[in-house]
Amino acid sequence: EKGGYPHFMLKEIMEQPEALENCLRGRLDLQHNTVKLGGLIDVMDRIWAADRIIICACGTSWHAGLVGEYLIEEFARIPVEVEYASEFRYRNPVLRPNDVVIAISQSGETADTLAAVREAKRQGVLTLGICNVVGSTIARETDAGVYLHVGPEIGVASTKAFTAQVAVLTMLALKLAEGRTLSEAEMAQALRALAEIPDKVRQVLTLDEEIRRIAHVYRYASNFLYLGRGYNFPVALEGALKLKEISYIHAEGYPAAEMKHGPIALIDRFMPVVFIAMKDRTYDKVVSNIEEVVARQGSVIAITDEGNGELDKLCEYVIRIPPAPDFLTPLLTVIPLQLLAYHIAVMRGCNVDQPRNLAKSVTVE
Ligand code: F6R
Repeated sequence: EKGGYPHFMLKEIMEQPEALENCLRGRLDLQHNTVKLGGLIDVMDRIWAADRIIICACGTSWHAGLVGEYLIEEFARIPVEVEYASEFRYRNPVLRPNDVVIAISQSGETADTLAAVREAKRQGVLTLGICNVVGSTIARETDAGVYLHVGPEIGVASTKAFTAQVAVLTMLALKLAEGRTLSEAEMAQALRALAEIPDKVRQVLTLDEEIRRIAHVYRYASNFLYLGRGYNFPVALEGALKLKEISYIHAEGYPAAEMKHGPIALIDRFMPVVFIAMKDRTYDKVVSNIEEVVARQGSVIAITDEGNGELDKLCEYVIRIPPAPDFLTPLLTVIPLQLLAYHIAVMRGCNVDQPRNLAKSVTVE
């Protein structure tokens, strides 16, 4: 049932091109330059009229929510807040009638996320679910929603659910921008770029062997830092979470610019730092952050665009991936980080599919 792979996690990483195709299928209409999200048809007017969108989730789903915040604010110009579901539900949150709450949950059973949905409903606001498991509690209790359609995720560490959550949030952001903040030409361009993502993910996955070699070099590290900016700040958090949960290596993710406000004190030659340094509007700033790390003997692994040789002198390793418009890069940059965590964990003899102390769905609060 692992399809020839030694672990579910690797299978689920490797099947992301098909998983994303399934997630996008029937939803991107390149003929009419429109997005179709069947589950939202009846509530679209209310989402369009939202004063504010509040995304509630936990763990990896919360990281996807952060990408969603950047997407929805950029494309739809609707204010978005992203909340840890556990914090939201315990603090008597202020909700107004035109707020919309979106719960993101792979399992659809996470207790804190479900409690956040119930709190939102109690206060009478529209609730939406972005879930993978069909018929799960959160999918049933929300007013409307969108399924990921990526098939069961069995590895405890979430991989294909993350990329699909980001894909759904991208489609939602574009849907909200349709006929409002995006011209038809801009929409056509964005949809075409999104449709090309599964193939680009396929290309990134061919780097598996190269990433395994990098993993071998760093397998005994006891700390890791992950840094990214803009759309790739949440990816830095996700890369760090993947590594800590399956390899038990201490890892932290930060927005790259926050480094100088504290974490830079940790940097010495024993500190590997993973930078997401795509050639987007944040690139020059990220390069100066890389220089700061290198000046303190930190060992840098960078993820950047194919054809970018500028980082070779500074960095120990440069992982090159196909370029994409900046709003789509999280779907690509997260893949090497999933593979890096996976290979390091395997080399350390960890049980990657069933890490200690973790369960696939957290049904206690
Ligand atoms: C990380 C991971 C967890 C889950 C979190 C939320 O790899 O799997 O952090 O993302 O427990 O789970 P769902 O999405 O099922 O609500």
